[in-house]
Parts: sequence; C-alpha cells; structure tokens
Amino acid sequence: MKRSFFIRRFCFRNKMLFILLLVEIVSIGVAYPRICNTMNQPDSAYIFSYATSKNNNRNGLHFAWSLDRKNWHPIGPEYSYLRCDYGRWGAEKRMISPFLILAPDGLWHCVWSVNERDGVLAHATSSDLVHWRRQSYPIVIKDKNCLEPEISYDDQAKLFKINWLSVSADKDTLIYSSATKDFKSFAPTTPSLLTRNFNKRVCAIVSGMPEEGTIHKTSWETIDCLIKKSKLAAYENILKGENTKEDPERFAALKGVNASITIDATKSKPISDMLIGAFFEDINYAADGGLYAELIQNRDFEYALSDKEGQDPRWNSYYAWSLIGNGASFVVDTINPIHPNNPHYAILDIQKVGAGLVNTGFDGIAIKSGEGYNFSIFARMLSGKKGSLRVRLIGKKGEHYGEALIKSVSSTWKKYKATIIAKEDISDARLEIIPLSVGRIALDMISLFPKKTFHNRQNGLRADLAQAIADIHPRFVRFPGGCVAHGDGIGNIYRWKNTVGALESRKPQRNLWGYHQTVGLGYFEYFQFCEDIGATALPVIAAGVPCQNSATGGAGQQGGIPMCDMDSYVQDILDLIEYANGDKSTKWGKLRAQSGHPKPFNLKYIGIGNEDLITDIFEERFTLIFNTIKEKHPEITVIGTVGPTYEGTDYDEGWAIATKLKVPMVDEHYYQSPGWFIHNQDYYDKYDRSKSKVYLGEYAAHLPGRPNNLETALAEALYLTAVERNGDVVSMASYAPLLAKEKHTQWNPDLIYFNNTEVKPTVGYYVQQMYGCNAGNEYLSNQVVLSNNDESVRLRVGVSVVRDEKSSDIIIKLVNMLPVKVSTQLNLEGSASLMQSMAKRTVLTAESPSDKLVTPVSDSCDINNKIQLSPYSFTIIRLNTKKQ
Ligand code: AHR
Repeated sequence: MKRSFFIRRFCFRNKMLFILLLVEIVSIGVAYPRICNTMNQPDSAYIFSYATSKNNNRNGLHFAWSLDRKNWHPIGPEYSYLRCDYGRWGAEKRMISPFLILAPDGLWHCVWSVNERDGVLAHATSSDLVHWRRQSYPIVIKDKNCLEPEISYDDQAKLFKINWLSVSADKDTLIYSSATKDFKSFAPTTPSLLTRNFNKRVCAIVSGMPEEGTIHKTSWETIDCLIKKSKLAAYENILKGENTKEDPERFAALKGVNASITIDATKSKPISDMLIGAFFEDINYAADGGLYAELIQNRDFEYALSDKEGQDPRWNSYYAWSLIGNGASFVVDTINPIHPNNPHYAILDIQKVGAGLVNTGFDGIAIKSGEGYNFSIFARMLSGKKGSLRVRLIGKKGEHYGEALIKSVSSTWKKYKATIIAKEDISDARLEIIPLSVGRIALDMISLFPKKTFHNRQNGLRADLAQAIADIHPRFVRFPGGCVAHGDGIGNIYRWKNTVGALESRKPQRNLWGYHQTVGLGYFEYFQFCEDIGATALPVIAAGVPCQNSATGGAGQQGGIPMCDMDSYVQDILDLIEYANGDKSTKWGKLRAQSGHPKPFNLKYIGIGNEDLITDIFEERFTLIFNTIKEKHPEITVIGTVGPTYEGTDYDEGWAIATKLKVPMVDEHYYQSPGWFIHNQDYYDKYDRSKSKVYLGEYAAHLPGRPNNLETALAEALYLTAVERNGDVVSMASYAPLLAKEKHTQWNPDLIYFNNTEVKPTVGYYVQQMYGCNAGNEYLSNQVVLSNNDESVRLRVGVSVVRDEKSSDIIIKLVNMLPVKVSTQLNLEGSASLMQSMAKRTVLTAESPSDKLVTPVSDSCDINNKIQLSPYSFTIIRLNTKKQ
C-alpha cells in the first residue's frame, strides 16, 4: 500500500518535474536566454563557490546563490559542477579548497589543491560555470605541497598571480608565489611577501554549515543556468533510475498494446556491416586461466609481489608451486636465465628420489579422459648426472591420471616435450614433476596445453570459450583492452613487441586488474584468433599516456611518455602495422612469418587511446601518433577516444580534438542503467554525419547488484535497435567486458562467465549473438504506430529493420520491454511481391525480467498473421526475399 502510494507520487512528481523542465530546460546555455524568466528576477546576484570535505573531498565544486551575501541558497543542493580527475580511482580524485575568479578573458578560472602531498596546482576554465574545459595539474613546487591556492589577475602585467601555502614535514607553513600567462609555463616559485594579503576566501553558511569559498557577483542568467543544470541532472537521474520493479505500478492500467509496423523496402540507407564485435580484455582472468589454454599457473615463475601491489604475500615466484614428497628443496633464482625478459626460474634440489614439484593450475587442472596434453619444459642439470623427469597428472590424494617421461636432461638450457594422455575426467588435477635422480636441476617455462585447442593451434586458445566468442559472429575483435591497453602508469603500458616471438622471450607484466599477464596470449595469437573466426582485428594502443586512474609512477595519467621518447613509441606503432601487414622481406613481417603466418593479417583499424583523460599531455601525444599514421599509412583507420562516458569534459574535449584533426572514428564508452538506455535511444539520431564515425567500444546496462539478466539484456537489445538505425554513423559496437572467470571476477556484469569446465553465456550474450547472426548492411525505412502513445510505452517498444545483401534477407528486430503483450501487424511495402510469408522467428524471453537463465528459442511464423511479442521479450523475424 505504502509502496504503491510512493510510486504514484513518484510518477506524479516525475511528470510535474518533466513539464516544468520542458519549459525551463530550453533556456540552458546562451542560445535561448531569458525566454522563461519572470519580470521580477534580479539582473544579478551573488554566487558562492565551495567544496565540502564530504566523501574525502571528492564531491567537487558546488555553488550557492544569494541576493544579500547573507542568506545562501545551495544549488542542487551540493550539485557537483566540476570534479577533480587527478590521481588514482577510489581514494583520490579530490578537490580541496577551490578558488574561483572571473578573468578579463571572460573565463572563470578555478584552481584547487589535489591532496596534502603533491606540489600540484589543479586548474580548469569555464565560460558559464556549467561546462568545464580540460583540467591541468602543473607542478608549481617540487618536494612540497600546494595548499589553499589562490589566483588573481594582474591587469597591468597581464598575468595570473598565484599564491599558496606549503606545509613542510616539520609543520612549518610558508606562502609561495608564482605567476603565469596561460597555466602552462610558470614564473619561478618564490616565497611570497604578500603574507597579509593571503586568504581571500570567505565563510558563508550554506544549509546551516559554515563553508569556505569565494563570492562573486554575476548575472542572474548565469545562476539560472546553474540551477537549471542541477534540475535537469536530477530529472535525468529519475529517468535513469527507472527499472522493471516499478512496472506493475507504472503500467497498472496497461492491458496490452497493438503495434502496426509498416516497412518500406524501397526506402533504405546503407549502414555499417561491421556493427557487432567483441571486446576482449584480460580482466577477470580472461586470458591466463581463461581463453589462453595454458593449464599451468605461474609457469615462468614470474609472479611478483608487485602484481598485487604487495597486498598478498603469497603472490610471488613460488605461487601455485609446492614440493611433494620428502628430501627435496626448491628455490627461485635469476642467474643465467633462459632469457633476460624471463629472469626467474626454479632450482629443485633432490636429495631423495621420489620428491618433486607440483603445480595446482588455475583452481586445479581440468582434464578429459582419452585426450592428449602437450607438456613442455626448459631444464638444465646443475649437478648430478644427465637425469630424467617423470611428469604426472595427479589427484588431490595422489591418484595418477596420466604420465610421461622426459629423458636425458643436459647441463645447458634446453626445451623438452612430451604428451600425456589423461585417463579420467577430472576437474581439479595437478601436475607433478619428479626428477629420477638426486642432484640440482633448473626448471622454467613448465607448460601443459590440451592438444585440442581452438582450431588446433599451438600455444592456442581454450576451444569451448573461443567457440562461444566465435558464435556471436563478431565482425571484429578489440584487444588487449580496456585499461590493460594503457596500463597502470607509463611502465605498465601494453607494448605489443613484448608479446610476440618465442614464449620464453616474451616479457610478462603485472595486470592492472591485480594479477599477472604471461602475454602467452599476445599479438600474434590475437591476430590469429581474429582470422580463425573471420573477424577484423582491432588493436587498441595507448596514446602515449597511461590510464587516467593509474596509481603507479605518478598520480593518474599525469606525465605521459616523455616527448623525447615519443618518436620511438610512434615507431613501435608503425612497426606493428608492418608486423601485421608487411611482407616477409620486411623486418617485422619476417618475424610474423617465422611465427607461422607468412601471409599478412590485413590490419585495417587501430585504436589510439582508451577513454583517456583529455589533457594537453594527451593531445600532444595523440596528435603526433595520429598524424604519423595518417601520413605513413593512410589505409589504416585510426580510432580516437572521447573519454569514459557519454558526456562531460573528456567527451567534449575528445570530440573537439577528433573534429579538429578529422579523426575518422572515435571510441565511445558508457556503462549505464537500463533507464538510461531506454531514455537515450535518440542519442545518435542527432549526431552530425559529417564528423567522425563512432565505435561504441564499451557499453553495458548495469543494475544495482550488477546482474546480467533479462532486464539488462533487453535494455541493450532496445538500445541496439537505435544503434542499427544509426548504423550510418555508428560503425561498430562491442559490449564490455566479454569474459569473467568465476571466483576471479573484478568487474560485473560480463557477457560470458566460465570456470575450468563450463562456459556460461548470459542473457546479454544471446542478445549480442542474435544481433551478430542477424546483421544487415542496409537500414529499411519503417513506421511504427502503437495503440498507446504514452512516452513510457513508446520508449519500451524498439523496432529495427535491416536487409542483408548477401542472403537477401529482411531482418526485423522487435523489442518489447513492457510487462504486457504487444500484438504486432507487419506491413511490408515495396518487396511484397518477393515475399515469402513464412519467416524464421527467434525469441528471447522469460517469466520475469530478473531471470538470468534465458536462452533464445527459434520457430517459424507467418508474417501475414499478427505476431505476439511476449512481455519482456526480444524477437527477430528473418524473412527470405529471394524469388523461389
Ligand atoms: O570493461 C572494463 C573497463 O571499463 C575497461 O578496462 C575500461 O576501459 C573501462 O573503464
């Protein structure tokens, strides 16, 4: 009772707000000033800018307004107009003591302190206080902090003067000064003589709390825009929050909907034939322990404490390895390794034959009876005579499931191979290595692969997982990330050259998701996988800057690869193009050929950057990379980046760079609620077709609790109808992330969950697959008329009609996100004479939108009859139009 009252009130409030906002929102921005102002509004008022210490100072810049400088009205309240992007994700990204001025250039300049540690002055500008331009974080003082920064403009000198406090370790406080014209170069920092003039901040009581900040008199128009922005954001949050739990109330009066869909097959526009792809990132153990079929964990003894930032003392070179039996010891050494990139190896000292080393695999080793497993090892005898090794698959209690013998291990590093045939189906076997003579032996790169990998590749991929990806029919595969591509700090940027060539010479590294990358699944394997599944390779390379949320080697993205090293970084990218496309006579083409692929991989796309913070540092590096590739390889489509979400500073700034440089395509990312996807189906309808095309590189619908269920899947399916409609501007799209290993999941939801023996596609997976298997290259004009035209109803019925020229099929996608049936009449114009009335129908639906175990079901249907779309369903009708 209470709940329904609340929801009715909520819906009522929702409608009222909407009506009010419709009137008000149009006046946001300068385009339509004052159209709805009343005559008795002031021309100007006071604005107070401040930040609170709440949420560890991470809430950013707030405003309050006043007519008399005494009574302050918080806007929002505490709506955040500008948030700091300095430092690592989580505890950092703090805005402390912001200070605002309006400079003669007509821009508001805000400076603030980022923490109690760094001598960094954070700075950003805005022309209207609502939209903020890119941030910069110049270091104004070395080895000291920069607290309570203040700026003023010296009109005579045409300079910004800056003062701040620095507190030394022994708590001495000094005021320092500097000056700048542009916040890029700064006059030398000096201790300030202006001690008495320091602290121009004032105190104001906002919502009963004393806050420190700055006061300015400004036009009412400016304040009005701030107020409207916060109201709009509040309204958008209500829309975003809409979910199916409220549907019984929202649609209490709705009994059913009739839809009439008229398709005019004579009117069409070409759309991308590359729309559905796969996003692969080594997150959630997607690579090692996942898609990469290696069964031995820490095969190279390269796990390091630093992989997990020292937080797990067990995570070191010994991880997953232990001794078995008595009379043996084992240490890890680094003298005279197989390869300098792979410096650690094990020394096993056997005093009594029978003892040895055991590896537990990734949560055990799953084996299948009768199947072969390729074992390999690098070994050298350090003492004792040429020995042999017995290699065995064993159970927890020592049961034997298959074995092999390695003979005559020499005193220099050599690779040995053997095959083990498994005797039983076991999900958690281990691998045991027993030297058959006493003495010391060095061991490294201890590896076990199933013979049956995907496409039977050496150093290949887990067949069932790879097949699940292939079954989506992705037109492209993006790799190696995501954040893994730009890395945690400059040193962690993913360098393709470290991931090719002989496995023992590859350079493993820490994975920013808190584990280890052997890079056994490297660039060669990625290219080969793409080829095996008929997908275009889409490598994404860091734009010379690490992840904006980096914690290592600096704070956030700050720094970037020094410009003096950028030429060689750019050359690495050119070398990648040569590796993929060059013939055997080229240096890098030859390496590819030596790895077993003489023919080029036919690389067409390269992504530069991954949802980076768009700063001057980024722009300088991105521009250099982009211009060089464009000049040397005009045949390659470069994909730029426009930040981590669908709006905001990085989005605006990223798009501005893309437009300025004429970047052919940009990579957009957004993880949003189902409500956002429902209410933003017109997102691309308004995109300028003359600018860059879009690669929607990461997206997913997220609900609290992070399930991948029918509700999130249908929100994605619904949104994809709009993406197909805009397939002339959106060229590619990939759900993210793709894979997640149970018990090792850092990110939810994902598309495919798995463990060592099972692959568990989600409902969202089937949406991707249904789109992937039913793509077209032409969008057909269609009109949808519903018996109920309420916006809440209209937005929950999605229709897309495409034609696939290869099969001549017309494919109709119908999404019903309503809790009632939609009875649909299809009317096909233009191709009626070619039409068969029987069509293939595939439906994804379940009892409840919260259901997770849902799979599509196919049958045939007569499209001359009414087609019933079940509540909460996604239907695809595939109609062959070839003349019989
Ligand atoms: O898909 C998971 C992560 O989300 C990606 O690594 C990153 O690009 C985004 O923030």
